[in-house]
Amino acid sequence: MSDALSTNARDLAEEAGAALLAAQTESDLAQAKARFLGRSGSITLLLREIPTLDPDTRRTAGQAINEAKKAVEALFTARRQAIKDASLAVGSGHPIDVTLDARQPWRGHLHPVTRAWREITDIFSSMGYTIEEGPEVETDWHCFEALNIPQGHPAREMQDTFYISDFRPGATVDAMADGVVLRTHTSPVQVRTMLRSEPPIRMICPGTVYRRDSDLTHTPMFHQVEGLVVDESITMADLKGTLAEFARAYFGAATQIRFRPSYFPFTEPSTEVDVTCSGCSGSGCRICKGTGWLEVLGAGMVDPDVFAHQDPARYGSSRIQGFAFGMGIDRLAMLKYGIGDLRLLFENDIRMLEQF
Ligand code: PHE
Repeated sequence: MSDALSTNARDLAEEAGAALLAAQTESDLAQAKARFLGRSGSITLLLREIPTLDPDTRRTAGQAINEAKKAVEALFTARRQAIKDASLAVGSGHPIDVTLDARQPWRGHLHPVTRAWREITDIFSSMGYTIEEGPEVETDWHCFEALNIPQGHPAREMQDTFYISDFRPGATVDAMADGVVLRTHTSPVQVRTMLRSEPPIRMICPGTVYRRDSDLTHTPMFHQVEGLVVDESITMADLKGTLAEFARAYFGAATQIRFRPSYFPFTEPSTEVDVTCSGCSGSGCRICKGTGWLEVLGAGMVDPDVFAHQDPARYGSSRIQGFAFGMGIDRLAMLKYGIGDLRLLFENDIRMLEQF
C-alpha cells in the first residue's frame, strides 16, 4: 500500500513537471498547478489520505507525497519567473528569441612571434637543450667585453647601442654599475651560463634585444634565440648537424642549409647560415630575391678568447670546445608565416593578428 502511494506521488510529480514546463502563459501555469495542487488536485487528494494510513506506512508514503508537493511548488515558482521575464522582454517592444545561440566570447590569438618563439624552443628542448634566461638591461662587460668585443668595436657605437650608463675603461664583472646597456643580442647569456655552470652545456636562450635602428627591416626592439654547446671535442660537424636538424624541423623535411664564411668577434671560425627558400623551395622567387636561399642565422665555434674570461679550472682545457649560434625569431616568424614587413609584427593591428 505504502509503496504504491509513493510511486503514485512520484509519477504525479513528474506529470506535473511536464505540464508546468509546457505552460507558456501565467494562466496556463496556474491551471496546471491547480490540477495537481488545487483543492481537489491529484497531489492534494493524496495528501488527504495520509492521516488514514496505518502508522507503519504513514511515514514513508507521507514523506514521498510531501516531497512531490514541494518539488511541484518549486518548479512552479521558477517557471512563473521565467514566463514573467520573457513577457517583460516582449513588452519592451523588442521580442527576444530565447532559442538563439549566445554570442561567442571573443577569443585572442597567439602573436606570430610568440608562436615562432615556442616552436623554436620546443625543437631545441626535444634535442635536450636547457632554456636559459638573462637580463635585458645588461652590463657592457657581459654584452661586449667578455665576448671579445673590445672598446671601439662598431657594435658599441652610439647609433647601435642604447646606453643606460657609460662604460668606464677597465670595468670588470664585479663592477656591475660600470657601463649598463640594453643588450644588443642574446649572446651575453652565453657568458652568464658559463659563469654559473660547467661543461657539458647545451642551452638556448630566447629573448628580447634592443638596437638603435629603425627602418623597413629593423625595429629598435626585436627577438633572438641564442644557442651554446660546450663539451669535450665538440666540432663544427656537430654545429652543422644541429642546425640542419633544426632547419628541417622548423621549415620542413626537405629544407637544406649552407654555410658561408663570416665574422663574429666571439666565434672562430664564424659562419652565416642560409636555408633553402621556404617560398620557392630553392628555385628562386621574390622572397629570396631569386637566389633560392634565405639567410637565417649567425654561428661559429666558440673563440678561445671567450673561454679565457671563464674559470680556467672548468674551461681552460684545450679539449673543451663549443659552438654557438644566434637567430632572429622575428625573421623566422616572417618567413614561416609569409609576413612581408617587419613592422607589421609590432603595430598590433588586430586585423593582422586575427589571421593567426
Ligand atoms: N650575437 C650575434 C648577433 O646578434 C649572432 C651570433 C650568435 C653569432 C652566436 C654567432 C654566434 O648578430
